[in-house]
Amino acid sequence: MTRTVLAIALAVFGPLAVRGGEPLPERGYELLVSKPYLPAEFDEELFDDLWKVWPQEMREKAATATKAERRKTAFSRYGFVERPGHDADDPTGPPLSYVQTKEGWATNCFLCHGGKVAGRVIPGLPNSHVAMKTLADDIRWTRLLSGKGLRPSDVGNMSFHLGGSDGTTNAVGFGVAFAAMRNADMSLKPYRPIDFDHHDMDAPPWWHAKKKEMLYLDGHAPKTHRPLMTFTLAPDTSPRDLTDWEEDFRHVLAYIESLEPPAYPWEIDETRAARGRVLFEANCAKCHGTYGEVETYPEMMVPLDDVGTDPVRLTSLTPKHRSWLKEGWMSRYGKDPVVLDPKGYVAPPLDGIWATAPYLHNGSVPTLWHLLNPDDRPKVWKRTEDGYDQDRVGLEIETFDSLPLTSSPRDYFDTTKHGKSAGGHDYPDVLDENEKRDVLEYLKSL
Ligand code: HEC
Ligand code: HEC
Repeated sequence: MTRTVLAIALAVFGPLAVRGGEPLPERGYELLVSKPYLPAEFDEELFDDLWKVWPQEMREKAATATKAERRKTAFSRYGFVERPGHDADDPTGPPLSYVQTKEGWATNCFLCHGGKVAGRVIPGLPNSHVAMKTLADDIRWTRLLSGKGLRPSDVGNMSFHLGGSDGTTNAVGFGVAFAAMRNADMSLKPYRPIDFDHHDMDAPPWWHAKKKEMLYLDGHAPKTHRPLMTFTLAPDTSPRDLTDWEEDFRHVLAYIESLEPPAYPWEIDETRAARGRVLFEANCAKCHGTYGEVETYPEMMVPLDDVGTDPVRLTSLTPKHRSWLKEGWMSRYGKDPVVLDPKGYVAPPLDGIWATAPYLHNGSVPTLWHLLNPDDRPKVWKRTEDGYDQDRVGLEIETFDSLPLTSSPRDYFDTTKHGKSAGGHDYPDVLDENEKRDVLEYLKSL
């Protein structure tokens, strides 16, 4: 009898059914910053030593700097941000993206999903500074030089594509690699190198999730707590851990769905924005929805040859990769919907779009002005740390005709590289220059 009731409750409430009460957004945030779901990667002592392997000029400056100054430079180098509420005078403790454990700092979701815009830290904003490759290389060298010995992960990540430019990651590649270690019931199996077209991605902001029914850029995954747990699938995580953590991730999903976009902090020309709204509703709303008093969001999948943006993210995930999700625990063995062969990218909501530069799924377009002017998008660009371009709405950048000779190519976004094209989405070209200005002004207000 009880089992029947339970079965009915599960069928009715599905993945939302909770043991022990309502999912709580505040609890979700608290768990992300305090409970490790991955093993510690390094400790504070090692973090404080990383400067010793920096390029010569930086290293010389760091040698005579205070601990607080060094921490600031390190945060900038690795794309770390301070946790909101962190005492500005305290040069210790992990950034937003790590949890303090007895063994050291363990990565959390904010490594990619907690960033800053114009210097202001916002949890849920994509981290457009994250530099996983630089960090991994510096950790490896520091361990070698200090005689601490390498860990298996230090060796493993040498041959794995961690990101070709700072601010982007091979997040989908991690997912595929984690999946390759698991059977459908999440028990471990021997890892075999994956067959995957590695590439760089820019994460979407978390405040979009509440408008969506399906997750990810191609809308292939169900919006339940289980797919959110993909990033906890390191080999140390047992199937038992996963079921124990389910409740936590219901809170995490509630937190993600509670987030609101930040408001544009500078002035908006209301007359222009009002004209822009009419133009937007006539030309863009059918894909991106409407905003303000009447909120709509069609969650429209736009075929690849229509939108014309870089194809690699879509084609890299094959139906075979996606069937892991459909056939396994993550989708309750197919009870939750999984799209095996999506044909394009889903037009995202544009709430808080002023804050989420760079644009498109691969982060290839530095400002909204460039998004609206496809022919003028830069081939190679480099951002500043915290500069915000209020005129073009987005990142303050320098542009180049080709990648300069440099010892730090990951500081540059080179749109000629595989998976990094800034082409496509030329819908704005139905507008003239003045109309584009109006739409740009309107976009600030979303
Ligand atoms: C290495 C970077 C990285 C880490 C770490 C990471 N994510 Fe993501 N996340 C991404 C990227 C990139 C995407 C977009 C993937 C896609 O659609 O192909 C994404 C997508 C998502 C989405 C879907 C958003 C949408 O609008 O469809 C959610 C929700 C999400 N991540 C939650 C999490 C949670 C929870 C964690 C921690 C357990 C996490 N992520 C860890 C990079 C990351
Ligand atoms: C036919 C559907 C369609 C129309 C019409 C359309 N878009 Fe889009 N838009 C998309 C899709 C799909 C994407 C995601 C493409 C990608 O990331 O590769 C997108 C991406 C964007 C982005 C970047 C979002 C981000 O988070 O990076 C902005 C900004 C945008 N569109 C604005 C507009 C504006 C303004 C108009 C009208 C002038 C417009 N779009 C018309 C489908 C459309």
